[in-house]
Amino acid sequence: MNILILGSGGREHTFAYKIAQSKNCSKLFVAPGNAGTSKIASNVAIKVTDFEAIKEFVLKERMEMLIVGPEDPLVQGIQDYFEKDEQLKNVMVIGPSKRGALLEGSKERAKEFMALYKIPTAAYQSFTAESLDAGKQFLETLKPPYVLKADGLAAGKGVLILNDIEEARTELENMLTHSKFGEAGSTVVIEEFLDGVELSVFVLTDGENYLTLPTAKDYKRIGEGNTGLNTGGMGAISPVPFADEVFMKKIEDRIVKPTVEGIKKEKITYKGFIFIGLIKVGEEPYVIEYNVRMGDPETEVVLPRIKSDLVEVFKKTSEGKLNEVNLEIEEQSAATVMLVSGGYPEAYEKGKVITGLENIEDSLVFHAGTSEENGTVKTNGGRVIAVTSFGEDYKQALKKSYQNVEKLHFDKMYFRKDLGFDLS
Ligand code: AMP
Ligand code: GLY
Repeated sequence: MNILILGSGGREHTFAYKIAQSKNCSKLFVAPGNAGTSKIASNVAIKVTDFEAIKEFVLKERMEMLIVGPEDPLVQGIQDYFEKDEQLKNVMVIGPSKRGALLEGSKERAKEFMALYKIPTAAYQSFTAESLDAGKQFLETLKPPYVLKADGLAAGKGVLILNDIEEARTELENMLTHSKFGEAGSTVVIEEFLDGVELSVFVLTDGENYLTLPTAKDYKRIGEGNTGLNTGGMGAISPVPFADEVFMKKIEDRIVKPTVEGIKKEKITYKGFIFIGLIKVGEEPYVIEYNVRMGDPETEVVLPRIKSDLVEVFKKTSEGKLNEVNLEIEEQSAATVMLVSGGYPEAYEKGKVITGLENIEDSLVFHAGTSEENGTVKTNGGRVIAVTSFGEDYKQALKKSYQNVEKLHFDKMYFRKDLGFDLS
């Protein structure tokens, strides 16, 4: 089968790594890809949201499967674009329809969906510029900290958690009447703060059946001890040690099943991933958010633990036969450490030469933001490289990754040295 992956991060390199191993994969392309994907697949210089260029390429190179990495093309309706096109409709698309993608594309929609199907989540109300005063009054009824969320996609920056009510009022006004997050913030969800520890559960569904994939926990903050600004993710581990059988059963019964049932009931075309961001409060799971794609860097620890042939699994997804699949999962733990450019998630420089890649032993290297010029690999983004290892437990896996990280270098390279600190 000829396969095209959309995206250019560590997530997409990991997809390419797994798919390139499949006996069912003939030609593999990544658009636009990075220096890592170019070693195992062919990169094509097409933007992930340029549907017409994607169509042209898919037809010219006879692609039979499209795997969508990031959320943008999904929220913009790439699945619908393929389904409605006579020439593209037989291409298998891994990723939900535009209606499905709204679970990530609109926080208000996600909250309404959860309320309708009685899925546990923080209490909330949503507001627009017209209801600004009601929003301010609603804040008065809550205890700090105050959680304000821009409704639309805001590249992971649309959530504010504020301790001071005065500041919460001001920020609500900034979002609703001064376009703080642009169009994304024209509706704001205000919700109850939940105090607990976060984890992620990944589900692959064909819209009817589903498979629960290994759990993962990522580290979002730039600074050690979970301090400083939010990033895309500074590292991850899988499985999550505290997600035991009893807790996972609660998640399955109260969250995963009703989510898939809701999708089915609303006749939403959904052949793809549901990434459920959760928080454990006491012993109970609550949904923080849905994403309609895999996580990054969670993919770098979840996919390497799946031993089954991924192309086979995706084919069954597309055919609506996921009930025929039994996933084989690696027992060992996996951990990944993300190397980032100095300054990230604020301003940083690109084009730094990366050395030491050839010295890595017994770990997997996934490129996140890299490019290659005349055989030299250079930094090309905030998150640069993820180093993934296996071990008996997350500590062993992390140890191996950290040993290999020591062999890598680029100017102003930074990484968190305390991953897993909150788990023992
Ligand atoms: P989101 O974009 O909805 O995932 O929110 C980003 C981050 O904000 C989450 O990963 C949590 O750390 C935090 N967060 C979001 N909602 C809440 C909440 N209701 N209570 C506590 N923390 C939250
Ligand atoms: N690591 C979080 C995300 O992919 O959204």
